[in-house]
Amino acid sequence: MSNYHIKNLEEYFQVYRKSVQNPENFWGEIAEENFLWRKTWDKVLEYDLSKPEVSWFKGAKLNITENCIDRHLFSRGEKTAIIFEPNDPSEKAQHITYNELHERVCKFANVLKNQGVKKGDRVCIYLPMIPELAVSVLACARIGAIHSVVFAGFSASALATRINDCDCKIVISSDGSFRGSKSIDLKGIVDEALKSCDGVSSVLVAKRTNTEVQMKEGCDVWLQPLLDEASSNCPAEMMDAEDPLFILYTSGSTGKPKGMVHTTAGYMVYSAYTFKNVFQYREADVYWCTADIGWITGHSYIVYGPLANGATTVMFEGVPSYPNHGRFWEIVEKHKITQFYTAPTAIRALAKEKIDFVEKHDLSSLKVLGTVGEPINEEAWHWYNDAIGHQKCPIVDTWWQTETGGIMISPIPYATPAIPTFATLPLPGIQPALMDENGKELEGNQVSGRLCIKFPWPAMARTIWGNHERYRETYFSTFENSYFTGDGALRNSTGFYRITGRVDDVIIVSGHNLGTAPIEDAINEHPAVAESAIVGFPHEVKGNALYGYVILKESGESRNQDNLRKEINQMISDRIGPIAKLDKIQFTSGLPKTRSGKIMRRILRKIASKDIKDLGDTSTLLNPEVVQEIIDNAL
Ligand code: PRX
Repeated sequence: MSNYHIKNLEEYFQVYRKSVQNPENFWGEIAEENFLWRKTWDKVLEYDLSKPEVSWFKGAKLNITENCIDRHLFSRGEKTAIIFEPNDPSEKAQHITYNELHERVCKFANVLKNQGVKKGDRVCIYLPMIPELAVSVLACARIGAIHSVVFAGFSASALATRINDCDCKIVISSDGSFRGSKSIDLKGIVDEALKSCDGVSSVLVAKRTNTEVQMKEGCDVWLQPLLDEASSNCPAEMMDAEDPLFILYTSGSTGKPKGMVHTTAGYMVYSAYTFKNVFQYREADVYWCTADIGWITGHSYIVYGPLANGATTVMFEGVPSYPNHGRFWEIVEKHKITQFYTAPTAIRALAKEKIDFVEKHDLSSLKVLGTVGEPINEEAWHWYNDAIGHQKCPIVDTWWQTETGGIMISPIPYATPAIPTFATLPLPGIQPALMDENGKELEGNQVSGRLCIKFPWPAMARTIWGNHERYRETYFSTFENSYFTGDGALRNSTGFYRITGRVDDVIIVSGHNLGTAPIEDAINEHPAVAESAIVGFPHEVKGNALYGYVILKESGESRNQDNLRKEINQMISDRIGPIAKLDKIQFTSGLPKTRSGKIMRRILRKIASKDIKDLGDTSTLLNPEVVQEIIDNAL
C-alpha cells in the first residue's frame, strides 16, 4: 500500500491513523518517495503554536519548478501540461506541452533576471487567465522571487494597496483582458494604481487584446520582444524548504487585506498530495478547475498541485455564461474533462438555466466533480449530482481556506462516502477539533462548535506579510495551541463534518444560535427560489431577528409576494423549527458579491439594520449596482 494514493475506505482509515500517530514519519515518507530534492531535510517538523512558528522539512533544498516541470521532461515531455481555452470559443485552444512549458518558464525567468529581479524580491502579477499567468508564476518560483498574484478583477486602489503592502518592484500585466462580451482595459487600471506605488521600477506588459495602451518611458516594457531575446537556459535557484514561495491576499473581517505567506516545501508536498487523492488523479486524466489563478484555488489546484503530479490542467479565460450558459459543458465535452472543480455559486447560477444547455453535451468523460468556497446547499448538490454527474461521479465538497494552502476536509472518491452538504472527513494529517465558546474542546459526536485545527500541516500559511503579530492574534489567540479557522462546523453521529459557515455570521435569536447556511438551504429548497442570504437585525424582544434577501427564479417572479413569504417561512419552520422563521423577506434581483462570489453580508446586515450611512468600500464588488436597489426596496 502506498501512503501517497488512497484507493478505498480501509486504506483511508489506515493512512489517517498513521498520519496522526506519527506525522513526521508519515509526511517524511510521502516527501521522500514522491518529490525531487537537491538535499533532504534535517528535521521533518518543528513547531511551537504559541508563537506561532512552524517549519516543515527544515534543511532541505529544492526548487518547486524542478518538481512541477523538469522531472517530467523524460517521461512526459510531449504530454500536454496546460490546455488554454480562450474566452471566445472560435479562437483555437492552445496545448502547451511540458517541454514547451519548460522553455517558456526559463525564458520568462531570464527576462525577470534581466530586469534585476532577485531571490526574495516580490513580483506582482496582475494578469487575466492567459498562459502568461501560469508561466510568470512559475518563472518567479524558478528564480526564487516571491509572487503576489492579484486577481485581475480587482480595482486600481485594491491593486495599489497590495503592491505597496509587500513592496513589489515589478508588475506583470497585459494590455487588456477578455471576459465574456467585455474587453477590460487592464493596463489603464495598472496605470491608475501606479500613481500611488513609488516602489515599482517596471511593468512588463503582455499583449492579449491588442488594444492601444499608454507605454510610459523608462517603466513600461512590452513582454514579447524580451521573451524572444531571452535564453531558454535558466538553472533553478536552490531554495530552502521554508523560503517564501508566494504571498496571496485575503480579506479579513476588519482592517486591510492580509498577505498570507506560503513557503516552499510543505506547500508543494501538501498541494500535490491532496490533488492526487481528492481528485483521484490518474495519468491520462484531463483535469479542469474553473477558478482563477488569482485565488488560492487556482494556485494550488490549477498550477502547483496538478503540475507536480505531471497532470494536464485546463486554464479557462472566460465566464460560464458566454457565449451561452452551456459553455462549461461544451468545454467538458471538447477536452474530455475527467475531473471538474467549481464553486457552488456557479452551480446554482447554471442550475437556474434551461437544462438543454447541459443535455446538448456529452459529459460521459467526467469521473469526479468538486466544489469549493462556500457551503453547497442540498438542492445545488443534487442538481450537480444528477444533471452533471448522472449519479455516477463522486462529488467532493472540499473545505479549505487561503490560509490552509490546500484542501483540509473532503471526501476521497471511492474511499470516503459523499453526503450532500457535508465536507465529510479530514484528509490524512489534518486534526480538526470543535471548540465551545469557552475554548473547551467538544469531544464525541453530534456536536457543533468552532472549527480549529490542532496540529500543524505542511501547507499552512506561516505568517502575514509584515505583521506576524496580526497572524498570531487572528488565528492562534482565540484557542490555545490551535489554529482557529473562523468557521463553524458540526460533527454528526458518524464523525462527518459539515461546515456551517463563518462564525461571524452566526445570529443569536432569542438566545438560540442560528447558522445562516442551514436556513438558506431551507429557503433555497423552495421551487421558486434561486438564491438567498440571511442576516440578523436588532429586535426589541428577541435580541436579533432574521432578515432574508431572496432572489426568485423566473417562475417565481409573477407570484404573489405575500404568499411566497408565507411559504418560505413554512419551509424554514418545517426544516429547522419556528425559531428560525424570518421576520422580513425582501425580494431582490441580486446579492452583493465579492469577486470570488462570496455574499457580502456586512452590507446586507447594515441595510437590514437601517444603518446605511457607512457601507464601506463597495467598489470591489462584482455587482456594486445591486446595493442601491436593495437600499431602495428595504423593508
Ligand atoms: O467559510 C469557509 C468557506 O470559504 C472560506 C475560505 O475562503 P477563501 O480563503 O477565500 O478560500 C476559498 C477557497 C479555498 C472558509 O473559511 N469555504 C471554503 N470551502 C468551503 C467553505 N465553506 C463550506 N464548504 C466548503 N467546501
